[in-house]
Amino acid sequence: TPARTLVLVKPDGVARGLVGEVISRLEAKGLRLVAVELRTLSRETAEEHYAEHREKPFFGSLVEFITGGPLVALVAEGPRAVEAFRALAGATDPVKAAPGTIRGDFALEVQNNIVHGSDSDESAAREIALFFPHLG
Ligand code: CMP
Repeated sequence: TPARTLVLVKPDGVARGLVGEVISRLEAKGLRLVAVELRTLSRETAEEHYAEHREKPFFGSLVEFITGGPLVALVAEGPRAVEAFRALAGATDPVKAAPGTIRGDFALEVQNNIVHGSDSDESAAREIALFFPHLG
């Protein structure tokens, strides 16, 4: 079966009206939508999603940000989906992200960087099970 990745259009991306732009780009690339949902994360879900960052100095701020408004969670499928979406997203720090990438084109701050994409197939499996248990 083709690989899958979890993508979040974060609250900053939803507030700025960039949901369609992100979905257009990943569909144009050839990734296929498997699930899409607008939702506001609970603190518990946010902390579980970002568990690997629990000890980071920005963790508290990150949880406030990601729970601060509705986001769009989606699952995209296709060959090397994790790597393919990360290439579309660009570097985590939007100032370093290449123009032509989502972060490179639309963001300036490392926290408010419009999108999240799973960073490995293992993370994708964990994150997809968290957001869309019926796909597990
Ligand atoms: P994401 O790819 O979702 O993974 C972790 C998130 O933490 C990242 O995008 C940013 O939103 C945020 N982040 C990463 N590094 C920093 C940082 N140095 N300061 C603030 N937020 C960060």
